[in-house]
Amino acid sequence: MKRDEFSGFFGVLVATVGSAVGLGNLWRFPYLVGQNGGAAFILVYLAFVLIICLPIAVSEFIIGRRTRANTVKAFQILAPRTPWSAIGVVGVIAAFSILAFYTVVGGWTMDYLFRSIIHLFSKPDISSLESQFTTMVTSPVRPIVWTVVFVLFSAFIVMCGIKKGIEKYSRIMMPFLFLMVVILMVRSLTLPGAEKGIAFLVEPDFSKINTSVILAALGQAFFSLSLGMGCLITYGSYIPNKENLTRVSFSTAMSDTLFAMLAGLAIMPAVFAFGISPQEGPGLVFIVLPRIFAQIPLGNYFAVMFFVILLIAAVTSVISLLEVVTAYVTERLKVKRKYAVGVIALLVTVCASFSSLSQGVLSDVKIFGKTIFDFFDYLSANILLPLGGLFIVLFVGWYMKKALVYDEFTNQGTLKGTLFRAYYFIIRYVAPVAIAIVFLDLILR
Ligand code: PHE
Repeated sequence: MKRDEFSGFFGVLVATVGSAVGLGNLWRFPYLVGQNGGAAFILVYLAFVLIICLPIAVSEFIIGRRTRANTVKAFQILAPRTPWSAIGVVGVIAAFSILAFYTVVGGWTMDYLFRSIIHLFSKPDISSLESQFTTMVTSPVRPIVWTVVFVLFSAFIVMCGIKKGIEKYSRIMMPFLFLMVVILMVRSLTLPGAEKGIAFLVEPDFSKINTSVILAALGQAFFSLSLGMGCLITYGSYIPNKENLTRVSFSTAMSDTLFAMLAGLAIMPAVFAFGISPQEGPGLVFIVLPRIFAQIPLGNYFAVMFFVILLIAAVTSVISLLEVVTAYVTERLKVKRKYAVGVIALLVTVCASFSSLSQGVLSDVKIFGKTIFDFFDYLSANILLPLGGLFIVLFVGWYMKKALVYDEFTNQGTLKGTLFRAYYFIIRYVAPVAIAIVFLDLILR
């Protein structure tokens, strides 16, 4: 049977941007900007995206498209009978571990969307927003039910395949997502007092830059671009041969960054206009934003819109994570896609249920001093992704034959490959050193 493929440049782009744009942009990015001094953090972040992350994205695509296989098989093909395929296995574990907490936040989003629709015509009680959030996340049943709905929805898309599932739904959802975030941004920018939020995002204060800001920026760039766990290897395996991998990577990185900036401009001016500290942290989107929506004209509609945005962003990232595991299971066990997705969805739900319960009844259960939810989050984002990224660049830069890398980079010599030398230099030297530093910092911290 012929392996499924994306249909062309736009198809590849919506799927990869779908993977990249997610809770990382809407929830993690604004709050990290808040905690790390605003514009200066953004500049460092941009530099990392362009210099380090872009070449890593190209490398993942090269591995995937060259082998047309899942992340584990890809390494087995390029490096038979060596331990390199462990990178793929770790990637599958990382995908699973991200899914185990990300789908819970997806469930919260569904709950909030549902509630914001129900309350479309009533006035929310602002004073109880915080306790509403706590009651919801700590309840033993409700968030799990929503997580199941969220997983089923995402699993359905993955079951439909690459072109007829992931690409088709991303094509519908992604343009809509960008449009909505622009509308939300305009609403936020026209609030009285919005200037302070804008200034915070565009006026760099370089005295705020220190090593921990730099490290936070690199970590965020990794997470936001879905790097280091084989997501782009898997998607790369579905990219048609004629597509220019550098162009796809560049467009993805730019769209993801643009979206993060739009999200920042949609959120920060509102936060400042209401005199809230930008350092509010993880509760920002579920507690602070509903408070703002409750006080602005047409706020109820913007609340619905915001949770639709959050939902779409989360779904298109979760399908890419599910695809990493699905491609592996279907190709390894030679089972039908729909059965593989079904079983994976069930396992994800079980793990996610534990991480959801760890917010409430199981909050005393600790793994290495962390709740189950935080453990999955920490294990994937802070350990498995940087580790995976490090080994991927070492693999492409030092193990793979340069001629082979060049061949795939230039589409079998049909593209000029002007940037190849710069790319290769970064992959061999700059990226490994930079990631090693971040990684050491993260474990030593
Ligand atoms: N990039 C996604 C986000 O920003 C998260 C993600 C990480 C998705 C790794 C896939 C792989 O939310």
